Amino acid sequence: MHTEPNVLCPLADCPVGEISSVDAQINGQLESLILWRGEDAVRVFLNACPHAGRRLDYAPGKFLLQNDRLICAAHGAAFAVRDGHCVSGPCRGQSLQSLNVRVIDGMICLPASD
Ligand code: FES
Repeated sequence: MHTEPNVLCPLADCPVGEISSVDAQINGQLESLILWRGEDAVRVFLNACPHAGRRLDYAPGKFLLQNDRLICAAHGAAFAVRDGHCVSGPCRGQSLQSLNVRVIDGMICLPASD
């Protein structure tokens, strides 16, 4: 069975070097997602910190980004936005959960689920 990819948002809505967020159905559950666009890549992570499971934004869709490090608003863990790896803070060495995405016709998409 062929299903359509799950479109998250237009690539143009994600400025290079900035963080955006969208809500999407993942395995039947509505999840908040973090999107980061670099010069040559787009990364998408679940908006859930591995430290205590809290959202990383300090207000809905508002994130602290310093020198390509995403700072969790709850207790200050810092994650490299390129791979989601925690480089300092209470969950150092752990990672944000990343999702595979593709850009199809200018849209950021999750793979089709069967
Ligand atoms: S929940 Fe993110 S640092 Fe504690």
